[in-house]
Amino acid sequence: MKKSRREFLGMSLGVGLTPIIKANSLENLMDLKEPEKKLKILILGGTSFLGPHQIAYALKRGHEVSIFTRGKTVPKVHQDLFSKVEKLIGDREDNLEALKNRKWDAVIDNSGRKTKWTEDTARLLEAQVEAYMYTSSISVYYPYVGTDFSEERSLVTEIPKGVSEQAQLTYEYGVMKATSEMATMNAFGPQRSYIVRPSLIVGPGDRTDRFPYWLSRLEKGGDILIPGKKEEVVQYIDVRDLAEWMIRLLENKAAGVYNGSGPGFEMTTNAFVHGVHASYNSPVNYIQIDDLNFLKENEIIGIQPWVIQLPEYAGMSKSDNRKAIAAGLQFRPLSETVSATKEWWYSNAVAQERRDNILTSQQSLMSREKDILEKWQNRKK
Ligand SMILES: NC(=O)c1ccc[n+]([C@@H]2O[C@H](COP(=O)([O-])OP(=O)(O)OC[C@H]3O[C@@H](n4cnc5c(N)ncnc54)[C@H](OP(=O)(O)O)[C@@H]3O)[C@@H](O)[C@H]2O)c1
Repeated sequence: MKKSRREFLGMSLGVGLTPIIKANSLENLMDLKEPEKKLKILILGGTSFLGPHQIAYALKRGHEVSIFTRGKTVPKVHQDLFSKVEKLIGDREDNLEALKNRKWDAVIDNSGRKTKWTEDTARLLEAQVEAYMYTSSISVYYPYVGTDFSEERSLVTEIPKGVSEQAQLTYEYGVMKATSEMATMNAFGPQRSYIVRPSLIVGPGDRTDRFPYWLSRLEKGGDILIPGKKEEVVQYIDVRDLAEWMIRLLENKAAGVYNGSGPGFEMTTNAFVHGVHASYNSPVNYIQIDDLNFLKENEIIGIQPWVIQLPEYAGMSKSDNRKAIAAGLQFRPLSETVSATKEWWYSNAVAQERRDNILTSQQSLMSREKDILEKWQNRKK
């Protein structure tokens, strides 16, 4: 029997769409596999950027969550879920009373800002908790020189003598993370330690303007300064991909050290810019500036999420994520990261002052961009 055009389209859409929707919806596929055991999870921190997304996913998976904070930071995303979370109050500096004589299946140490903090909680919780997950950073690889940015790379655990003040600050964070990883391993051993080293984290609730900058800039359109080379590599991780995978690592008892970076392919700055702009209609004219001296002179050396290839940063966007992918790390497409971040950026969760600041503050590249581009044109003449 001959079919009408509408019937034909309806059928072909129906037949074609079902498998496509399933294949794309990796999150749903993962969620089909119920966790074998409902876990009791303690999060040190939990109210800032990464924590609320971990909490949302953990609760969705049927786990119980307690958080330990000073009770100062107010969550900006998933606020409604905090009524379902046990709140323990203390201070990692000098008051861990609320953690004593309690049992959890796993602790996630998000708020590790000092090695001593992690030493103290790891030592205290070693007999009360089965697994310790430490949220580290790819900053443990600083200086990012050489070619191996896998989990096997040996880490700097002391700030070298005689380095510049700026380098000292960068070393400080990486060394703190590396020695905190050691504190975790020392107390919990390799079978019970989970070390996750995220690259730059982006998405709803971001406390930095690194990623929102590009949303605002590409939305505005016009002549857009793109620093660095087109083919430089960009790495970032959507906070939800990271948070969900961290919970699944605990469910799967997949102890180990992992780089938590994305995306799942080598993304260039060019692909990143075009990928973000695909969500906007603004007319744009990209002006790529890859003259390192000019970029340095104009203080536009670290416009993230990618990093200009100064020698000591050459490998910052090259962390090897194969082990993480094998252990279940999955990636939303950039378009989903953009749409969720946009929705959050224009919600009440973000103060208008912050949105204005990104456009007009003196430090923001956006407010300096016109002058810099003029300088660039004159220099070329
Ligand atoms: N953002 C990135 O791009 C990035 C990249 C790589 C790695 N990381 C790592 O990812 C982790 C997660 O970061 P995050 O942004 O979600 O924030 P976070 O590190 O979890 O920090 C904030 C949390 O710690 C609590 N806190 C702060 N001082 C405390 C104290 N003295 N005692 C007890 N609790 C305290 C805060 O609550 P109160 O203020 O109420 O105490 C808040 O819940 C961090 O370890 C960070 O180093 C981040």
